[in-house]
Amino acid sequence: MPETFTRVDPSQLTRETGTYPITAPEGVADAFESAAGAAREWRRSTGPEREAILRRAADLLEGRLDEAAQRLTADIGKPIRDARAETLRAVAILRFHGAEALQPDGQTHPGAAGDTAVISISEPVGTVCAITPWNFPLAIPAWKLAPALACGNAVIWKPATAASGSALLLAEVLAEAGLPPGALNVVMGAGEALSTALVSDPRLNAISFTGSAAVGWRLQSAVAGRNVKVQLELGGKNPAIVLADADLADAAAQITSGAMAAAGQRCTATSRVYVARTVAAELIDLLVARVEALVVGDPFDETTDVGPLASVEQLQTVGRYLDLAASEDGVELLAGGSYGEPSTGCWIDPTVLTGVQPTSALMRDEIFGPVAIVTPVDGYEEGLAAANDTEYGLSAALFTRDLGRAMRFAREIEAGQVHINRETAGAEPQAPFGGLKGSSNLQREQGKAAKRFFTNSKTVYVRAR
Ligand code: UN1
Repeated sequence: MPETFTRVDPSQLTRETGTYPITAPEGVADAFESAAGAAREWRRSTGPEREAILRRAADLLEGRLDEAAQRLTADIGKPIRDARAETLRAVAILRFHGAEALQPDGQTHPGAAGDTAVISISEPVGTVCAITPWNFPLAIPAWKLAPALACGNAVIWKPATAASGSALLLAEVLAEAGLPPGALNVVMGAGEALSTALVSDPRLNAISFTGSAAVGWRLQSAVAGRNVKVQLELGGKNPAIVLADADLADAAAQITSGAMAAAGQRCTATSRVYVARTVAAELIDLLVARVEALVVGDPFDETTDVGPLASVEQLQTVGRYLDLAASEDGVELLAGGSYGEPSTGCWIDPTVLTGVQPTSALMRDEIFGPVAIVTPVDGYEEGLAAANDTEYGLSAALFTRDLGRAMRFAREIEAGQVHINRETAGAEPQAPFGGLKGSSNLQREQGKAAKRFFTNSKTVYVRAR
């Protein structure tokens, strides 16, 4: 009998949501074997064949929208409306990357000799390992699996344990859509032993990882000196600057959503707000009113805006930051600030703080909870310097009506994703996604970047005889 692990609903910890098998280290070797077997056939499949499979998977997932959303909510407590939106996002991602398999491939180049055609083509990298986090149980796996498969790779996928129910549903629809056995291999179970086995296997050709910085850099080091492509997405501490000329009510609405949706458990979440001093009081009033109006509660209820955190571990981690906020000199609580005992569910109040020192862990760490810190600044220059004072560089926002300033910000902010008059969260599948500085290893995912990562280029000279 394989060992198993059991998950519980983060909104009612006494309710079990599923029991799943733990993949033993030998299971990892089996997955590589199975991937290598499938890779030979799958890499010879045509773009139109792969597109048809991903399109069918998208249709099947869309057909199971409510079931998928329910599972996602049971897995991590994401409010059901957001879970449905995420499922539809995964559907769109599967369709986008499926359609990419029909796009022109390669280029023809001018050749020095008239009788020789020079062509570059792309080919799958081989066996790809996708390691995905729990906070987007369907969308992030979709945006790694779909392009990897669309490019003809075999995939070994390690979903986060908290996202197991959603993961199995996604694997099921891909199989039902006609993906050949072995093209996708799911390995399950917690952390280090499994990922160490995955990165140690010499048959590995690429890793696509979203998760914590510590784990990401460890994976990259583990494959150093071997020809393994690595793409890391490692989180953020995303700033929003609000200038005096901004539409303050709109900025407050965007920042509330950016900071509090998904209970702040997005690496793109807005966590530091720098507001021009002359409008700080007004913005704070608008923001606090919005945050206090959020419906916090049962994630299965259609009216809920903010559900529980995803797990007891999350509650403990974020709770420690709230304790720190309560104990640090000068920190003032503008909204929220409390969290529950993990006896009933992983509940936490959407929290707004001010008076936090730039050196505080509250200001420097990725808290990954519904916590926004507001700091008044003397204007754009001071806001920009403060926004850039972080080891991260995933996403950033500027609220202003000044287009020139917005263009400057796009150049001057150290972030891979820049939003003008929009919250810092959100990403569309057709555009490249990824951060600068400590937020990534500078490889991009999504859009055309996905194909560059999941393929290798080959140049072919054809001389007519
Ligand atoms: C989004 O902002 O909708 O883990 C996507 C994360 C990011 C994806 C964010 N990799 O939160």
